[in-house]
Amino acid sequence: MGVLENHRGNFVSGQALADEIGVSRMAIWKSIEALRKEGYRIESLPSKGYKLQEGNDILSEEGIRSHLPKKYKQNPVIVYDTIDSTNNAAKTMAMQGAEHGTLIVANEQKQGRGRFGRTFFSPKSKGVFLSIVLRPQMLIQETVFTTILAAIATVRMLGKITEEEIRIKWVNDIFVQDKKVGGILTELACDVESQQVSYIVVGIGLNVNMSAEDFPPEISELAGSIRSKDFSRNYMAAELLNQVLSIFEEHSAEAILEEYRSKQYLLGKDVFFEKDNQKMYGKALDIDAKGALVVRVGEEDVTLNSGEVSVRLQ
Ligand code: BTN
Repeated sequence: MGVLENHRGNFVSGQALADEIGVSRMAIWKSIEALRKEGYRIESLPSKGYKLQEGNDILSEEGIRSHLPKKYKQNPVIVYDTIDSTNNAAKTMAMQGAEHGTLIVANEQKQGRGRFGRTFFSPKSKGVFLSIVLRPQMLIQETVFTTILAAIATVRMLGKITEEEIRIKWVNDIFVQDKKVGGILTELACDVESQQVSYIVVGIGLNVNMSAEDFPPEISELAGSIRSKDFSRNYMAAELLNQVLSIFEEHSAEAILEEYRSKQYLLGKDVFFEKDNQKMYGKALDIDAKGALVVRVGEEDVTLNSGEVSVRLQ
């Protein structure tokens, strides 16, 4: 499958496939038939060989792996057709010892979760729903940055597949043209005595090629979708893993914060939020050095370390 993915949209002869993988042409023919049964659209012409058609967007381990750079090619990649939540699966695997850089992807989530215990709508074949297990040498106090890094990784990936302007709505929502197209849910476990992080699960969900009718009525006003006919979800999943791991391995906190600021959706907007059970109105001013949102409320600057802020419509 990986070989066909690499040649997506072009014909490759049966012999070339057989040589590349090191099997017989008969074995290639059998594999092509099996892939067709799985739903892949593979064209074949006696004189030219096989072609994986462009429109195929079936998630698969091989498909994802084929887009991974060499340094992450051997990372564990687990693909589910249906699951409750990839974050749940990732946490279970992490507790059982899953290694740093393990990727868990699902074609559909029955109980996709967002922040504040909300549901993340995750319908079949219409999104990228994935979780990455990280095992950084980090103290619990240093983890606040994780969601910011994951948001930047997501923006960088999306920058490769779409011309649309991608914005981050503090803290973790991904926005395109005033609509939420995705979100990030970071969960972690830590050793209480040493304050050392045991693992972090970064969950990223993106709506892909969904139309307004696909969303349930309660979110149809707010939700939007990434559109991509040129890039498969396999590519998106692989590139998300690549971006998240690369940023974790090497980043300057200052440069990341600057990038995070420059992509903000809320800055300069009139907003409202709740603090200590009180509704507050103000103007979003800045993201401070700790990633907190600074809002001017009357004459005062209020700093929010977490929570949710909504845009105030005029
Ligand atoms: C939010 O919008 O508050 C965050 C949404 C995060 C959704 C992703 S989808 C993959 C992973 N599995 C989950 O159950 N949630 C995250």
